[in-house]
Amino acid sequence: MGAKHRSLIRGRRRFAVVEAVLVVGLISAGWVSAPVGAQSGASVLDGVFTEAQATRGEATFRRVCSACHDTNEFSGGRFRLTWVGQSAADLYDTIATLMPEGDPGSLTPAQYAGVVAYLLQVNGYPAGESALPTSLSALRTMEIVEAP
Ligand code: HEC
Repeated sequence: MGAKHRSLIRGRRRFAVVEAVLVVGLISAGWVSAPVGAQSGASVLDGVFTEAQATRGEATFRRVCSACHDTNEFSGGRFRLTWVGQSAADLYDTIATLMPEGDPGSLTPAQYAGVVAYLLQVNGYPAGESALPTSLSALRTMEIVEAP
C-alpha cells in the first residue's frame, strides 16, 4: 500500500470520528432528535422531569430530607460515584423504600418522584416537557449517565 493511500484511509477514519462526535453533540444539544434505535438508550439527559416538578421536589427535600441530609451529599462527585451507570429507577426505589429514615414510604409516589427530579436538577441534568414518572418500569429505561 502506498503512503498516499494510507494517509487517505487515516484521513477518512479521522473524519468518521469527527462526524460521530458532531452527531452526539447535536443530539445532546437537542438540535436533532436521537434516532428511534436509541430509544432504549434513553438517559436522564433527555429532559425526564419538569422544572415545576423539581421545584416541588426541592420544597419536599427541605421539609423532609434536610433534617438529616445536605444537598451536597447527593451532588457532584458523590452523586456520580454512587449513581452513574444505574437507572432512575434505582435512585427512586432507594429513596422511596428507605427514606425518610424511621418512616420509609411515608411520602406519596409523586413526592418521591419530585425529590428525584430535584436531585437530577441539582446535578445539572436538563428539565423537559414531561414529569418524571413514578412507575419503576418507566424509570428503568432512563439511565443515569455523566452529568453534562
Ligand atoms: C431521620 C434522618 C433522615 C431523613 C429524614 C432522611 N434520611 Fe436519607 N439517610 C439517613 C441515614 C442515616 C442514611 C444512611 C447513611 C448511610 O448509611 O450511608 C441515609 C441514606 C440516604 C441515601 C443513600 C442510600 C444508599 O444506600 O445509597 C439517600 C439517597 C437518602 N438517604 C436520601 C434521602 C432523601 C431523598 C430523604 C428525604 C425524602 C431522606 N434521605 C431523608 C437519614 C435520613
